[in-house]
Amino acid sequence: MSTLIYILNGPNLNLLGKREPEIYGHDTLDDVAKRCEETGAEFGLQTTLLQSNHEGQIIDWIHEAREKAAGIVINPAAFTHTSVAVLDALNTFEGPVVEVHISQVHKRESFRHHSYVSLRADAVIVGCGVQGYELAMRHLGHVLKG
Ligand code: DQA
Repeated sequence: MSTLIYILNGPNLNLLGKREPEIYGHDTLDDVAKRCEETGAEFGLQTTLLQSNHEGQIIDWIHEAREKAAGIVINPAAFTHTSVAVLDALNTFEGPVVEVHISQVHKRESFRHHSYVSLRADAVIVGCGVQGYELAMRHLGHVLKG
């Protein structure tokens, strides 16, 4: 069985650390990748962290995860609130899915309160900063290696 976790990130998250640091903090996506790798190793899990500003690319990676990954951590960013296509793609994935949002979206604008992806996610981590990714990895470690 695969021990690989896909960590997928949507639009503008390539600017993590530079983009609105008062909301998203100072850590970069490379910092996130490193932390996830370290946390995964505690559970014998490997990680691949990917980011795209393009919806179709995220969908293609979800399809790839069907063949390669045991679980998915996904921060769909703005696609969270708009994309039925990302939801449909996640519905084709059979393993556990954890949705992560760095910011506490429910304290923000009302358009951020609804998530299509939450209709599929097995767990949702919101407002814990980039530590949310690490918590997601820990959760998958327990679920998959428990
Ligand atoms: C986000 C929240 C989304 O509303 C926003 O569009 C993002 C990032 C978060 O991690 O807090 O780009 O998913």
